[in-house]
Amino acid sequence: MINAKHPTKRMRRLRSSSWIRGIVEENSVQINDLIWPVFVIDGKNTCESIASMPGVMRYSVDILVKEVKIAHELGIKAIALFPITSDNKKTADGRESYNSDNLMCRAIKSIKDAAFDIGIITDVALDPYTSHGHDGLVEGGKILNDPTVDILCKQALAQAHAGADIIAPSDMMDGRIGAIRQALDKDSFQDTMILSYAAKYASAFYGPFRDAVKTSGCLSGDKKTYQMNPANSDEALHEVAMDLNEGADMVMVKPAMAYLDIISRVKNEFKVPTFAYQVSGEYAMIRAACDNGWLDYDSAIMESMIGFKRAGADGVLTYFARDIANLLHK
Ligand code: PBG
Repeated sequence: MINAKHPTKRMRRLRSSSWIRGIVEENSVQINDLIWPVFVIDGKNTCESIASMPGVMRYSVDILVKEVKIAHELGIKAIALFPITSDNKKTADGRESYNSDNLMCRAIKSIKDAAFDIGIITDVALDPYTSHGHDGLVEGGKILNDPTVDILCKQALAQAHAGADIIAPSDMMDGRIGAIRQALDKDSFQDTMILSYAAKYASAFYGPFRDAVKTSGCLSGDKKTYQMNPANSDEALHEVAMDLNEGADMVMVKPAMAYLDIISRVKNEFKVPTFAYQVSGEYAMIRAACDNGWLDYDSAIMESMIGFKRAGADGVLTYFARDIANLLHK
């Protein structure tokens, strides 16, 4: 029987000083955990700010290479590239997505030419290239699955040819991982990795991203026929199982903060490399509170990171990546 006045077990003993807290610490954040998502735009020597993501920029390719170099010097192991396609190149069928000289491919090549050893993860989905802003082809108000997958394969191949290390399909079409794996293998890209956005939810937290990439069309909440219902978690396990079966090397859960249970279930069930994407709205939220003086920036971003690690994430895509890396160097 524990006597409240004289408990034999006192949990506070192991919190009594910094050194003992350090020794008994169960999880940690490392630079190895960080993946930096970056936005790239056309033009030269251009750097644009994004109203809903203070502190995040869109870079033209020349500046991008310099910024990626800084990330590399900080020890960040990979970046995730997102292009902003100019309006005159957007079409209903998103054909710019597989133009071998599109902005994405030029960005990949320029970073590869600069030859620093950093992984390049490329987004596969049609939304940056379509006039309607959807991730797939639209006919009669419906998103067509299989015809979209054919285009995604071409897009993935264009990116692989340009030098992408990891192809990351974020479109949520059924069967795309298997189709892309086959297309890559057929073209001798057996070594190109696939990171599947396996459990991607139809989330309100993507709002600022759609600003950042200047998504066309009016999309409020309207990706629900392909992205997952936030109410579901068993379904995430099915998605992950299928993508692994089809050849995904790594899987992702997205968004992150409101989906820690999903990260945890996926990691526990499959024990494969599992990534979390702390998305634009999560960035905007924390950033806005910090800019107003309502939260402390350094501790808030580190606490969000340790939460993802505790849940079981092996890596995190976060717009805070360079700031976290800087903090870890302190
Ligand atoms: C689209 C895509 C989205 C994000 C990454 N890829 C937005 C969407 O599905 O509408 C969101 C990332 C973020 O919010 O930071 N294929």
